Amino acid sequence: MLRHMQIEDLREVNSVLSRTFTHARWEQGLQAYHVPTCCMPFLEMYLQRFPHGSYVIEGRHRIRGFIFAHLWGKVGWVGPLAVLPDWQGRGYGRDLLDASVQSLKDAGAATLGLESAPLSYRNIGFYVKKHFMPGYLTVDLSREVQSRKIERLPPSYRAESLSGLDGAAQRRAMDTLDQLANQLDPNLQVSGEAALLRRYGYGDAWLLYHHDAPVGFAIGHTEKYYEKEKRRHLKVYLGGLIRRTWQDDLDAFLIMLAQWTREAKLKYMILRISARHQDGFRALIRKGLEPVHADLRFVLNGYEERSRSEVFYLNKWE
Ligand SMILES: CC(C)(COP(=O)(O)OP(=O)(O)OC[C@H]1O[C@@H](n2cnc3c(N)ncnc32)[C@H](O)[C@@H]1OP(=O)(O)O)[C@@H](O)C(=O)NCCC(=O)NCCS
Repeated sequence: MLRHMQIEDLREVNSVLSRTFTHARWEQGLQAYHVPTCCMPFLEMYLQRFPHGSYVIEGRHRIRGFIFAHLWGKVGWVGPLAVLPDWQGRGYGRDLLDASVQSLKDAGAATLGLESAPLSYRNIGFYVKKHFMPGYLTVDLSREVQSRKIERLPPSYRAESLSGLDGAAQRRAMDTLDQLANQLDPNLQVSGEAALLRRYGYGDAWLLYHHDAPVGFAIGHTEKYYEKEKRRHLKVYLGGLIRRTWQDDLDAFLIMLAQWTREAKLKYMILRISARHQDGFRALIRKGLEPVHADLRFVLNGYEERSRSEVFYLNKWE
């Protein structure tokens, strides 16, 4: 039986996720194949993004598969999707994906996609059959943040975090976030995401100003995803710089992120960018950031991304 996912399902979903992805990675021949269970508040926050598009499939009162859906304005994406190994090949994956995609379309999604392990030929076959086309890699780029060598923002720049604001100032900052997001991608809205992060204490949003005009923002997680993981990384998965001459603002943007990393008592910053945005990707490599992980992005036919490839736009569908 296919039904909407409930908060009460999350413990079992967590176990299905760990077992299914551990098995899939083992099948792919990866040495470090074990996928541990996730932190429960993280999964709960994940479900709250767009519960209407998240489903489980169950039989004999046990969950056999699940899918999460996410909607940022009109940018919709799905994942993770998993069906327990013993129940694969019976149409469950297809039913879960169809239901989730339909919910996102009904809610007005104009961009629709997902990310998956690039090594999995099986997944490529599965998704292409469902009219999702593989495109660019989304790459996690990492840099260690020195706690001693502290760089300051040039005087013409200023940065502020959402958590450092209250009342009207916070509401204004939320509006600014959406205005900036809209310039990166006309389908993107991020204020809901920033509010959710604040509510769960899982991360924050920062704004960068040049001569008091907003020029960029970053939204990231400061807390860990897996119970057994060490808390070490700031993971920026949404953000960017809006000016045509964004290269001029990039150093200030990275200084802002280093400050955030230090304030959150973390050691590394990770910036997640699609290789579709080649200039931005190259610029970050030139600044010394190193690839540590990559996923393959798929986009549904007719629901392609609207962002221009020359903007500096960090985003990851995970
Ligand atoms: C990917 C996954 C969700 C698919 O679920 P599933 O229940 O096994 O898939 P289904 O039985 O619904 O298959 C759906 C269709 O894809 C097809 N398919 C599956 N693998 C295929 C392949 N390698 N090449 C071509 N088509 C394939 C099936 O034949 C079926 O076609 P049909 O609709 O014409 O009958 C499941 O294998 C899984 O959980 N894998 C591990 C976790 C993972 O990698 N998740 C996805 C990444 S986020």
